[in-house]
Amino acid sequence: MLLASASVPDSSDRADWAAFVQHLRDIGLTREFTLARQRESERFPASLRSDWLIHSYRHDPSPAAVALCLLAFDHPVPQERALAALGASWFEFLVRRGLVIAIEGGWLCPFQLLLVNELYVFADRPGMEPNAIMALGPTTEVLARASFPQTDIGSALDLGCGCGVLALLLARVATQVVATDLNPRAVAMTRLNAALNGIENLSVRHGDLFAPVEGERFDLIVSQPPFLGCADGESRVLFLHGGRRGDELTRRIVEELPNYLSAQGIGFVLADFGLAEGERVSARLPSLPGAGVTILVAGKAIDLDVNAALYLANGQFLSGDALWEQTGRQVVHARACGVDHLLPALLILESGKSGVRELAVAPDRWSDLDRSLIDPLIVAARGLDEPWTAWQGRRLRLVDGTRVVHEYPFVAHEQGRLVLRSGSGSLLPEPVVGESVLPLIAAVHGAPSVAAAVPELPGEVVAPILAQLVLHGILRITA
Ligand SMILES: C[S@@+](CC[C@H](N)C(=O)[O-])C[C@H]1O[C@@H](n2cnc3c(N)ncnc32)[C@H](O)[C@@H]1O
Repeated sequence: MLLASASVPDSSDRADWAAFVQHLRDIGLTREFTLARQRESERFPASLRSDWLIHSYRHDPSPAAVALCLLAFDHPVPQERALAALGASWFEFLVRRGLVIAIEGGWLCPFQLLLVNELYVFADRPGMEPNAIMALGPTTEVLARASFPQTDIGSALDLGCGCGVLALLLARVATQVVATDLNPRAVAMTRLNAALNGIENLSVRHGDLFAPVEGERFDLIVSQPPFLGCADGESRVLFLHGGRRGDELTRRIVEELPNYLSAQGIGFVLADFGLAEGERVSARLPSLPGAGVTILVAGKAIDLDVNAALYLANGQFLSGDALWEQTGRQVVHARACGVDHLLPALLILESGKSGVRELAVAPDRWSDLDRSLIDPLIVAARGLDEPWTAWQGRRLRLVDGTRVVHEYPFVAHEQGRLVLRSGSGSLLPEPVVGESVLPLIAAVHGAPSVAAAVPELPGEVVAPILAQLVLHGILRITA
């Protein structure tokens, strides 16, 4: 396995790197090319897809497929194929810069190329060397979609940038982006990726947490800190371990982040939290006088042994007894730290706001987190803290397409229930309500004001119900 021992190529000849990516496009190695092949692979069951994909690329003589094999996969490509696909001068360019190296059987790249939207991004191959750079993972995708702004913004910070993919994506919508990392290899890799993609509005800096941006403020801050617990005697992997228990680094980031937000700024921090039984994520956070916090937690917890085994199998390639013995040791360590299970959480910190709200996302909707759904959700969540006086004068409407579902059980002695299904597709679980909520909704829908619709009901009872109905996408505030 070739991993984080390879030094990251120097990125200073930026124009040459950008020309190299243009050459990849010219020979047909584009996102459309890989997406089309991926769609073809979907004929196979999920467990066979990546095997089929690699096989099909390796037997495809087109320059695009050969270049992809050379830059993205583990199998060496014979020199004459690489030369024919890339042309002699680009092949030598890569060799001189160490982006492809000779091994037995041919040439390959010590890193892996990933095509993300229109971007060409290099990262380390999976591995657990202390200074390995994390490749784009499913969690990176969740954070990217959850935080990506709906409109152009001024400044953005990607804290703990890894290979820099979030910063590169943000460079399309922000005037200026800063990416920072404690790992010098990650800094070098992000610089290389910026050069490859011709990105000029990104400043990449080395340092611990916010030290490289001291005194600066940002409209958007994104961060996916390392969040696994690191047992005594285990060597610390920078992208993975967040401290002995795991959430130490995340807590420091959350505590300091509000000091780096602009007046209207917003920060998104994605991490798994190790929790004791019955403990909430909010209980693990420091108090934040400078910001309001909305915490979206996954509807489903992760078992300690499942989580440990996945990281050990995929990152350290352990199997058999070694896998399960090491899994057992990690579970013992987590329990010794008071951790019973893990819960993925997205922390949203808003400058100039206050209060902490924790909302559980519907179990099947965690991968659907999207900024277009999150922005209205955090506005609606603020309503939970508002008094009756704030609700009295509002006009509310039933969201179009909303349905009342009567769920009747087969077993006669079990009770039925009323479920409200939002017409706008809420991220939260469908609320179960009592019969009395239906006339309340009917009364406020279309009324000139909430107070006029329900003059006889006590406000302190009505306000929290209305706030929940708005939060779940059943009612919408129109004025
Ligand atoms: C889980 S990876 C996330 C990488 C990338 N942002 C993503 O979402 O794919 C965490 C990153 O934080 C960096 N990191 C760890 N400790 C740090 C610290 N004290 N200050 C800055 N960065 C740190 C690691 O080197 C790693 O690149």
